[in-house]
Amino acid sequence: MSDAMRHTDTVQTPLVDAFGRVHDYLRISLTERCNLRCTYCMPPEGVVLSPKERIMRGYEIVDIAKIFTELGIKKIRLTGGEPLVRKNLERILRGLAALPVTLSLTTNGVLLDRYLELLKELGIRYLNISLDHLHRERFYKTTLRDQFERVMRNIAHVEADPFFRVKINVVLIKGVNDDEIVDFVRWTEDRDIDVRFIEFMPFAGNGWDGSKVVGYYQVLERVLEAFGRDRVEVLDKEAHATATNFKIKGFRGRFGIIATVTKPFCGDCNRLRLTANGHIRNCLFAREEIDILTPYRKGLDIRPFIHMAVQAKHAQWGGWDKERFYTQSAQHNRSMILIGG
Ligand code: 5AD
Ligand code: SF4
Repeated sequence: MSDAMRHTDTVQTPLVDAFGRVHDYLRISLTERCNLRCTYCMPPEGVVLSPKERIMRGYEIVDIAKIFTELGIKKIRLTGGEPLVRKNLERILRGLAALPVTLSLTTNGVLLDRYLELLKELGIRYLNISLDHLHRERFYKTTLRDQFERVMRNIAHVEADPFFRVKINVVLIKGVNDDEIVDFVRWTEDRDIDVRFIEFMPFAGNGWDGSKVVGYYQVLERVLEAFGRDRVEVLDKEAHATATNFKIKGFRGRFGIIATVTKPFCGDCNRLRLTANGHIRNCLFAREEIDILTPYRKGLDIRPFIHMAVQAKHAQWGGWDKERFYTQSAQHNRSMILIGG
């Protein structure tokens, strides 16, 4: 589409929703595929992938991202599936790195060693790495792949490099890894990293029920008990942050809790998601998506579609009330692997 066409009709208004929330953060899923099979993300029977021709091509991702930046998006995080398995990743990263945004990446860490130089060259320093266990056999049980050592090696590598800012995402599931909370916090003693405990969230086929959630206060209780009340410091909350952050006095790193289920932070939400097949999801738990790839390919102005998606955003949890969120949302939410973190 020519620039002239794109700029004639709608005005470049920022992405403000019906509740006054300004959206300046976009998460783009680069692929529906992944090289791990985390049980909380990928249903055991697998997922039906979009037909290849419905997945955004590299140049489409870059061009659509550019349109978003013109609408005020200042931060783009790349997700998946696993973003590092995307074909032609280098070309996409180069295209996106040329836009006026802060680029970041959420990855399972398996393939990081292949991309470290490129990430540094392009100034991509914010890495969120998923790691749910500190033991090889347990890692295997959750991810169904024997990649623990490679992931740990890659984490050690980026963590030791002052260029990278590393956050470790731990999805907590009762009876699966809640007995590792204290070990993960200890892990921050001499590492300049953030460990973030994420409450287990309901998505299609992930076996969620409310009793498997390890809630904010339960996490905190375990930490207070292990380290003592006066050693746990609460850190200031940054604007739009999803995590409440803490630090053990004297430790180099920090830990945080992302309490999507027990203490939702929707009131401050500034994020939109673009799925690998070119749909906008205005919320992780949204029931509807807006396809922008089809109008884009027809040469239409996609900005009205983007605004429509923002306007349709609900106040909290994609519009689920608490009771239905707990009892029904898991069946209706798209699988996490297809949403992209
Ligand atoms: N609940 C909470 N977090 C999840 N993630 C994937 N599925 C779930 C779930 N059901 C996390 C991954 C990754 C991020 C993108 O989302 O662990 O860190
Ligand atoms: Fe892959 Fe991440 Fe899903 Fe695990 S959580 S299967 S690493 S996309």
